[in-house]
Amino acid sequence: EKIPVEIFTTPKEGSKYVAREIATLIKEKNAAGVPAVLGLATGSTPISLYAELVRMHKEEGLSFKNVITFNLDEYYPLEREALQSYYSFMHRHLFNQVDINPANIHIPNGELPKDKVKEHCASYEQQIEDAGGIDLQILGIGNNGHIGFNEPGSSIFSKTRLINLDNSTRMANAREFQNIAKVPRMAITMGISTILKAKRILLMAWGSKGPIISKSVEGHVTEQVPASILQQHNNVTFVLDEAAAGDL
Ligand code: GLP
Repeated sequence: EKIPVEIFTTPKEGSKYVAREIATLIKEKNAAGVPAVLGLATGSTPISLYAELVRMHKEEGLSFKNVITFNLDEYYPLEREALQSYYSFMHRHLFNQVDINPANIHIPNGELPKDKVKEHCASYEQQIEDAGGIDLQILGIGNNGHIGFNEPGSSIFSKTRLINLDNSTRMANAREFQNIAKVPRMAITMGISTILKAKRILLMAWGSKGPIISKSVEGHVTEQVPASILQQHNNVTFVLDEAAAGDL
């Protein structure tokens, strides 16, 4: 089963499409008097999405008061205040610039001692459930097909957990750190099953991701290409620019 795609001329146009989907969801949930539960991603891909949401907040009055967020992942170990943490990333690009209630923000904690991580992961899953599940999950994709930090080989049944990062992932993300040795060796990530439970999923990809996008959209469903497992979800769309769609 192929994954449906929406193709845009530029990342900016694609980001605007995703931002409009998010705004529509927030307004619908507001009208129904219930919170909108968003699953959020980091990396370079969603930066233009967050910029558009901030613009909609400032210029069009889009409010995040009724929004609950769960981020996909965080490096481990890493202090939240580190410039490279996903905690810092999210506050810089979105949370500090909109009216979200800090109590509604959830990001895996990269600074817990190791013997507390298991319990933290279980409670993260529970918090998602208590919020009524994720209405809309935003994803990027790694060059090896990872979603969140679910590296190739991650089980379709995996939940939020501590994982070892692939070397290729550490190299791809080294630009955020001073050098490769400074990139944490582990991360806490929502699992594949956590992601599949979202009611709707939008995966964004721009530029040189063409080969992994074609494997994910129309290749075999395999745990070796984590994003290919999304073929089994009934409400997923890939939002691409022309380059990322170039191999389809
Ligand atoms: C990181 C993140 C992923 C992200 C991926 C791609 O490893 N954990 O959530 O999708 O890298 O990053 P980028 O958008 O910078 O290409």
